[in-house]
Amino acid sequence: MSTSKPASFYVTTPIYYVNDIPHIGHAYTTLLADILAGYHRLMGSPTFFLTGTDEHGQKVQQAAEKKGHSPQEHCDIYSLRFKDAWKRLEINHDHFIRTTDPEHIAFVQEMLQKLWDNGRIYPKEYEGWYSLSEERFFTEKELVDGKDPISGRPVEKILEKNYFFKMSEYQDWLVEYIESHPDFIQPDFRKNEVLGFLRQPLNDLCISRPKSRLQWGITLPFDSDYVAYVWVDALFNYVSAVTGRRFPDGNSIWPADYHLIGKDILTTHAVYWPTLLKAVDLPLPRHILAHGWWMMDNARMSKTTGNVVNPMAMADVYGVDAFRSFLAREMVLGLDASFSEEAFVNRVNSDLANDLGNGLSRILKLAATGLDSRLRKVETLTEASRSLQSLADTVVKSSCEKIAGLKLSQGIEEVFTVVRSVNKFLETQAPWKLDKGAADYPEALNAILFPAAEALRLCFTLLKPVMPAKMTEALGALGIDEGKSPLIWGAWNPEKDMPNSVHLFPRIRWEKEPVPSPSQPSLTPGSTAEPFGAVDLRIAKVIKVEDHPNAEKLYVLEVDMGEEKRTLCAGLRGQIPPEDLKDRPVVIVANLKAANLRGVKSQGMLLAASGPEGALHPIHPDGGIPGERVTAEGIVSSPKAKITLDEFLSFPLKVEQGVVRQAERPLTYSQGPLRSISPDGSEVR
Ligand code: MSP
Repeated sequence: MSTSKPASFYVTTPIYYVNDIPHIGHAYTTLLADILAGYHRLMGSPTFFLTGTDEHGQKVQQAAEKKGHSPQEHCDIYSLRFKDAWKRLEINHDHFIRTTDPEHIAFVQEMLQKLWDNGRIYPKEYEGWYSLSEERFFTEKELVDGKDPISGRPVEKILEKNYFFKMSEYQDWLVEYIESHPDFIQPDFRKNEVLGFLRQPLNDLCISRPKSRLQWGITLPFDSDYVAYVWVDALFNYVSAVTGRRFPDGNSIWPADYHLIGKDILTTHAVYWPTLLKAVDLPLPRHILAHGWWMMDNARMSKTTGNVVNPMAMADVYGVDAFRSFLAREMVLGLDASFSEEAFVNRVNSDLANDLGNGLSRILKLAATGLDSRLRKVETLTEASRSLQSLADTVVKSSCEKIAGLKLSQGIEEVFTVVRSVNKFLETQAPWKLDKGAADYPEALNAILFPAAEALRLCFTLLKPVMPAKMTEALGALGIDEGKSPLIWGAWNPEKDMPNSVHLFPRIRWEKEPVPSPSQPSLTPGSTAEPFGAVDLRIAKVIKVEDHPNAEKLYVLEVDMGEEKRTLCAGLRGQIPPEDLKDRPVVIVANLKAANLRGVKSQGMLLAASGPEGALHPIHPDGGIPGERVTAEGIVSSPKAKITLDEFLSFPLKVEQGVVRQAERPLTYSQGPLRSISPDGSEVR
C-alpha cells in the first residue's frame, strides 16, 4: 500500500426512481459504490458516498394517483424501501438524498436561475406529436402508422411553449474535453460510444414541462407555469447533496471522483451533465463509469419483464455477505453478466465455505487442542512461512490498487489466491502430524499456525469492505476488535483466546430448484450443472505480436482482457502472419494454469480450429468486447480458479455447421454463436 496519504474520494450511485422496488440492478451499483468507499476508507482517504432516490416526474405522479396517494406519500413509502434495502445489504452510505428534499429543490432552482440569467436558457414554441405514455414528443418521421413507435398508442399534435438549454453550443468543447481526458468515461468502449453520438449535431435540451401536463416537479424560478425536466432536476443531486458539507480537512467534496451508473443512462451523464456543469461554471466529475446489466435468460432484468432477482430474497436465503461477494466478483466491469442462482451457490461453496471458512476452522481447532486457544506472535519465520508472507505482502499492495482502480473482480480474486495458499501451506506443513508428546510441540504448532493466521487476518481485513459482517466476525474469532487490524504483516500481536470453532459460511446444498423465499417466490432456476461450466473462456484483443525468442513455432502475444493485459504463447507462427492477429478479438482459456514455455510465462491459451490438413485458424469473435465471457448454450458458467491443460482438453470442442460447439452445444457471446471459418469437423483447442 502506498505510504503517502491518499487523496479524498467522493463516489455516487444513480438516484433510483421511486416507481420500482429495489432489484439486483440497483443493488449492484450501490454495492459497488459501497465496496469502493470501503476500500478508500481502509486506505485512510477521507471518503464520501452518496446514494438516494429520484422522486419527481410523470410516472411518479401517475403511480401515486393509481394508488390513491399523494405524490409525496408515494415517494415517502418507496424511498423508505430503498433505505431499508440498503440497510439490509449493509450499505454504509454517508448521505441518502431525495430530490424532494427542500435543500435540493432550492439548489436546482438556484442553478436554473443562473442558467436563465446567463442567457443559457431560452423559450421556444414547439410543435410535435406528443405521446402521453412515453412522456415525450416524436417527429412525424418517427411515428409508426401514425402512432407512438414505442408503445403503439395514439399520439396528439401539440403546440407548446417550452424552455430549452443551449446544449448544442457546448458540443465542440465536450468532444475536445472527452478526447483530452481519456479516463473521463470508462470503460473505453463506452467513451467511443459517446464520441460516436457526438459526431451527429447535438440538439438543445428541453428542460421544462408545462404544469398543465405535469405538476409533480420543481417549479422553474423564472416561470411558475412550468416544472423542470426530471433529468435536469436529478443530475444536480450530485452537487446539491454536498454543497453544505466538506471533507474533514476542509476541502470541498464536489467534484465527484466516480459517478457509477448503468450503461442505459450514459448519455444523460456523459453529455447533458457535463454541459450543464460547464454552463453553471462548476467543475466536472473526474470519472463516469458505466457498468453492464444483470441479465436473466438473456434479457435485462427489469420490472416490466418480471424477470427480476430480488436482492433481499437472495440475502434472506443465502446471507447478505455471500450475496455481496458474488455480485462484486462476478461482473467484469462494463460488461453484462448473467445471474444464475446455481453459479452463486457454487461460488459460495468453493470460495467461501471451502477456502475461506476451512482455513480459519482448522487453525481454531488445532489451537484449541495444542495451544489452549491462544496464538503467540512469531518473529522468525521458516522458509515456507516467509514465502506466505511475501505473497500476502504483494497482494495487500496490488489488490487494494486494483480495487481502487475499479478492477474489482481481479482484486478480490488476488485475495483468494492468498486464502488458497494458506490452505496449501497448512496441508504441506501438516501440523496435525506433529508429535503431540514432544516437548517442543506447542512451539512447533504455533510456528505453523501463527503465520497461517496472520496471512488470513490480512485477507479478512482486505475482504471487509466486501463482506463487512462476516469479516468482522472472522477477525473477532482471531481476537481482533473492530478497526484494529493494520494491513501490515506482523502488526498483530495475539492477545486473546480464540473460540474452538466458527461457522462463517455453511455449505449450501443445491437442490436444483431454487430455494423458495417468502418475499420473492419467483426466482428462476439455473440450468443444469455441467463440468464444462468450470472453463473460463474470455474474449481478448491482441495488442502485440512478437516472435518467441527460443521457439520457432511460437508467437508471444500481448492481449487485452478488459480488466487486465496478459502475455501468452500461441503456436501460430509460420501459419498466420502477425498482421492477421494484431488488433483482432480472439478467444482465450483464461483460467488455464500458467505454463512456462521455453522461458516465457504463458497465461492462457488462444483457441484455434485445426482443419483436416492441419491448417490452423484462430477463432475471431467479431464485435466481441475484451473481457466478455464465451459460454456454451444452456450451461451455467461457474469457472474454477484454475484448470489444467488436461482438464481443458477433456472437453472436446468442434466446428459443426460453422459454429464452435462443445458436445453439440453452440458456444455463444454477445454477438451470437461463435463462428469459425474452418470446415465442419475441425477440432478447436
Ligand atoms: N433515476 C434515474 C437515474 C438518475 S441519476 C441522476 C434512473 N433510475 S433507475 O432506477 O431506473 O435506474 C437506476 C440504475 O439502475 C441505472 O444505472 C440502471 O442502469 C440500473 N439498472 C436497472 N436495471 C439493471 C440491471 N438489470 N442490471 C444492472 N443495472 C441496471 O435511471
